[in-house]
Amino acid sequence: MLSPEEFIPQAVGARLPVNKVSVVNGEEQQHWQKAEILSIRNDEPNSKHPVEFYVHYEGFNKRLDEWVPLSALDLSKVKFGKTQKKSAPNAVPGAKGTTVAAPPVTPSGNPASRVEGSGSGAAFGVPHNAIVPQKRKRPDRDRTPSEKQSQATPMDTTSEQASQDAGNVEGGEGGEEGGEEEDTFSKEKELEKLRVGGSMTQCLTEVARLKNINKIVMGKYEVEAWYFSPYPEEFSQLPRIYLCEFCLEAVGSARQFERHRAKCTLRHPPGNEIYRDEQSHISFWEIDGKRQRQYCRNLCLLSKLFLDHKTLYYDVDPFMFYIMTSSDNVGHHFLGYFSKEKHSSEDYNVACILTLPQHQRMGYGKLLIQFSYELSKIEKKTGSPEKPLSDLGLLSYRSYWADTILEKLYEYKGELSIQELSEETSITPDDIMHTLQALDLIKYYRGLYVIYLSQGNMQHHEKNVAKNRTRIDPAKLHWTPPKFTASQLRYGY
Ligand code: ACO
Ligand code: ZN
Repeated sequence: MLSPEEFIPQAVGARLPVNKVSVVNGEEQQHWQKAEILSIRNDEPNSKHPVEFYVHYEGFNKRLDEWVPLSALDLSKVKFGKTQKKSAPNAVPGAKGTTVAAPPVTPSGNPASRVEGSGSGAAFGVPHNAIVPQKRKRPDRDRTPSEKQSQATPMDTTSEQASQDAGNVEGGEGGEEGGEEEDTFSKEKELEKLRVGGSMTQCLTEVARLKNINKIVMGKYEVEAWYFSPYPEEFSQLPRIYLCEFCLEAVGSARQFERHRAKCTLRHPPGNEIYRDEQSHISFWEIDGKRQRQYCRNLCLLSKLFLDHKTLYYDVDPFMFYIMTSSDNVGHHFLGYFSKEKHSSEDYNVACILTLPQHQRMGYGKLLIQFSYELSKIEKKTGSPEKPLSDLGLLSYRSYWADTILEKLYEYKGELSIQELSEETSITPDDIMHTLQALDLIKYYRGLYVIYLSQGNMQHHEKNVAKNRTRIDPAKLHWTPPKFTASQLRYGY
């Protein structure tokens, strides 16, 4: 067994069991979980602060990465990596309170995050890889996703639900494979990627960085951040940052926030309200990234806290943003959003989608998804979300696709072709095909594929209808697709 003095100088990159504390159904549970040390702080011999290690749990989503004390490490089972530096303390600056080493790339592979097994794919007992079109090269993910559910309560810290699962889920740590491929980050490259690929996937060194923001306070909620987001560096020293719910400006202290609120007159997102439902108090606002750059950049910074591998920071011009709010007598409070390319060469109808953690698992994600398809219906196009999807994104889309397709089949008593289903729903034929396979609704019969609606599927649909969830009412959507001239679509500075 190594002593702490022997271990600390070579800790970064080492793998060992870590005593992980999880909150499952409101109860704290501890277990030993294999992890890799990504960083160490306060390792100065005379530092008043204790040494802490930033660990990544193998097989878990990166949003569970955290700082742990020395006492949480099992130093009797340390494994060192091949490329590991043996002299970490001298190799990096070690100012008090700062991070002293940050290897840019986490291990290869695609560990999963945790999800309670309730996604549609799982519910229907079908391999998950059956459902998403394989347009780009992606890791195997035909296993059950798992996840930390992070949901904040008013002025409460984020709770965590976790239990290990053998699954690889795309987006769990998406963007980390092939770590050597690309490790410089430049504005030009990002712009080129946006122009050519329509992709919002970011440079790997950016996405692999350590979580830098602890918590955000937004309205009456305090929420833990999940991932790195490029907020000003000084924010990373703070226990929490404060965000204005209306303009999304971030400040570092409660006093600064009070000053901001006294000046800020905004009470809703700075765009056109294109949807309003008086009953549910839900509205949608359309915002052009080029016209509201500051707001959209603030939004991207905020959403990067909860999106690991997809989002952009400053080049918001090529995108439209659709913000979902809930209104009360104070104003329209931000619930979630999705962004959409003004011109998508791959017919994506959503680039990034997010429900703020404090509002997750209440059906808002599916409302956002439904809204994105309602826009596609008006455009008379089919659309699909930009790949790769995160684990939670995949779950939500699967569930939406399954609900929507079953609903249509039920309505038409199964008498619909894939093409007709696609025309009715604006879901691409690829996504429909994968969903039908996942639901076991497609049979090969006498040389032909036929859709077969089983009793079980009908019951599932009836149960779903009985839940009586809030849905988007197309009659309340007042929208004409924005048109852009070629010069408006030429982005640049
Ligand atoms: N565990 C298990 N199931 C879950 C979980 C979870 N943590 N979260 C959502 N689900 C399931 C729900 O049960 C529901 O399925 P059901 O209707 O069959 O029961 C479905 O997923 C959707 O749930 P909603 O409550 O409608 O979705 P939510 O408001 O939680 O938002 C979203 C989903 C947007 C993916 C949210 O989790 C999020 O913002 N995550 C972080 C950002 C992210 O990963 N975005 C997607 C990236 S991919 C892309 O951008 C194209
Ligand atoms: Zn403000």
